[in-house]
Amino acid sequence: MCGIVAYVGLNPAFPIVIDGLKRLEYRGYDSAGIATIEPEGDLVVSKKKGKVADLESHIGSSLPVGSVGIGHTRWATHGPPNDTNAHPHRGASERIAIIHNGIIENFAAIKESLKCRGHNLLSDTDSEVLAHLIEEVMDASSLDLFDAVRAALSQVVGAYALVVIDKDNPGRLIAARKSSPLVIGIGADGSYYVASDATPIVGHTKNVVYLEDEEVASLDLEEGLRIRTISNDIITPEVHALEMELESIEKGGYEHFMLKEIFEQPQSIRDSIRGRINLQHGEIKMQGIDDHWDRWENASRILILGCGTSWHAGLVAEYLFEEFARIPVEVEYASEFRYRNPIIRPDDVVIAISQSGETADTLAAIKTAKSIGAHVFGVCNVVGSSIPRETDSGAYTHAGPEIGVASTKAFTSQVAVLTMMALHVGHRKGNIPQDRFSRLLAELNNIPELVEKVLGQASRIDVIAEQFANAENALYLGRGFQFPIALEGALKLKEISYIHAEGYPAAEMKHGPIALIDDDMPVIFIAPMDDVYEKVVSNVQEVKARGGRLLGVVTEGDKDVAALADHVIEIPRCDDALAPLLSVVPLQLLSYRMAVLRECNVDQPRNLAKSVTVE
Ligand code: M6R
Repeated sequence: MCGIVAYVGLNPAFPIVIDGLKRLEYRGYDSAGIATIEPEGDLVVSKKKGKVADLESHIGSSLPVGSVGIGHTRWATHGPPNDTNAHPHRGASERIAIIHNGIIENFAAIKESLKCRGHNLLSDTDSEVLAHLIEEVMDASSLDLFDAVRAALSQVVGAYALVVIDKDNPGRLIAARKSSPLVIGIGADGSYYVASDATPIVGHTKNVVYLEDEEVASLDLEEGLRIRTISNDIITPEVHALEMELESIEKGGYEHFMLKEIFEQPQSIRDSIRGRINLQHGEIKMQGIDDHWDRWENASRILILGCGTSWHAGLVAEYLFEEFARIPVEVEYASEFRYRNPIIRPDDVVIAISQSGETADTLAAIKTAKSIGAHVFGVCNVVGSSIPRETDSGAYTHAGPEIGVASTKAFTSQVAVLTMMALHVGHRKGNIPQDRFSRLLAELNNIPELVEKVLGQASRIDVIAEQFANAENALYLGRGFQFPIALEGALKLKEISYIHAEGYPAAEMKHGPIALIDDDMPVIFIAPMDDVYEKVVSNVQEVKARGGRLLGVVTEGDKDVAALADHVIEIPRCDDALAPLLSVVPLQLLSYRMAVLRECNVDQPRNLAKSVTVE
């Protein structure tokens, strides 16, 4: 949430920062701003409500040339999106400027005391108090910028990723982090980059340092990189090599990132299973499980935590673990779990699922689970993010960067990894006969080819989308393994097309939602030929009798649903447990095309941000 980018070096900062903001725009797009220190020593701030493109038009053709700069793209928390609330914010004497991501919980108290001391704060934000506070500490003491930021932050309660520039220190950036991610890039020419994630950095350098909680970094053209904790312990920076290619964060000829990511799924699933399935020996390798096998072998319960689409992947995993590992599973919204008084037993295993690895609620839930003794396993996509560093062990999904706000390839990769986990645990526990296990492995290994077949129907799905694009509501129904897919299909439609949609277990419809069905209501049945197929066909009949507009996602060769539905999309035949990996794909394409037809901003849906780093 909110994107931060900063540069200090020998080149003009503006093009680097503005380009970085465009790459980070998926983190928030309510307003954008940039500040540079110009060669004459002026601190120049430009900020504008709207997208980065609006900021660029506002700045016009007289571009700043200073070689230190900070930029921010905002997802509003305190105060509406407007020019004043946009970052960067300046202190009282306009000597420093800051950009901030996170929430300062005690900002009201700090603001009040600043006002009593004569400060005039302009915005509604919690962030502006930081600029005033840091500047006040500097004015009132002999502390330099590095120490002043540390001293000011010691008064602050809350979460922050912060970058500060000071016109009296033009060759320097100060960056600080607590519960909100920051990556530092080290350029070959002595320049430094700071960003919320690696996407603005990867085009400049592959050498990065991940700032840890309560660390403050000074990036100085003369003194180099120094890191201290807020309480002044010296930290030796650990330099990592970025495993990300520039092409992976570009649209590559697609109209939107979401469409590119939907079409990347054969490859992203391949990358998720690569090196983990051994068909020859009929086995799965999952180091993160094997290293802690006693915890899995003796687990009396698995608790799965996540938010949004990751929570839906967790629901699929509930069916998978119960089917294969025969371990009871509970799936919890991380945001609910963290504020309950949860009962965790020593023999519980917790699985935390997150694409970004930065979701504030999931991170906090993990900390809660760990504090009461649970073994926590992370399933994350972004390498080096906070959740993998916080968990006891885990497995990366290797889906590659996902830029579209609506999660697509991250979901199928999560499900692929969770499928392997459930199969591996079930196999090691002796619950799955070897011949069934080997057959499932072969089928899973072949899923990328089957996803390609589903994607081959994109133009047919486009035609169906035209029939539904004007709908005001939609109902997604599925049973068993397909119930979470109904939820995921509904979420995809809601978030990018703003059509109200609900996912329901098909049999629950009779207990209420059936009242919604009239001649206009699109009803999407996810009805592959699985264990509950016959039951779902009866549910389709019940809807048909009441007049809904029916779309069935069915197995190739299906006759029964096809006879009842107005449209069908076929998916290849596969084991029931693997079908979610196929059935979700047409639903992604359907929502994508409906949103495009409704002229919605698919990659940046209103009010949303990719990485939800505030609770
Ligand atoms: O990065 P995470 O997987 O932890 O994110 C969780 C949710 O915020 C995310 O899945 C969200 O629901 C997506 N916009 C769904 O498409």
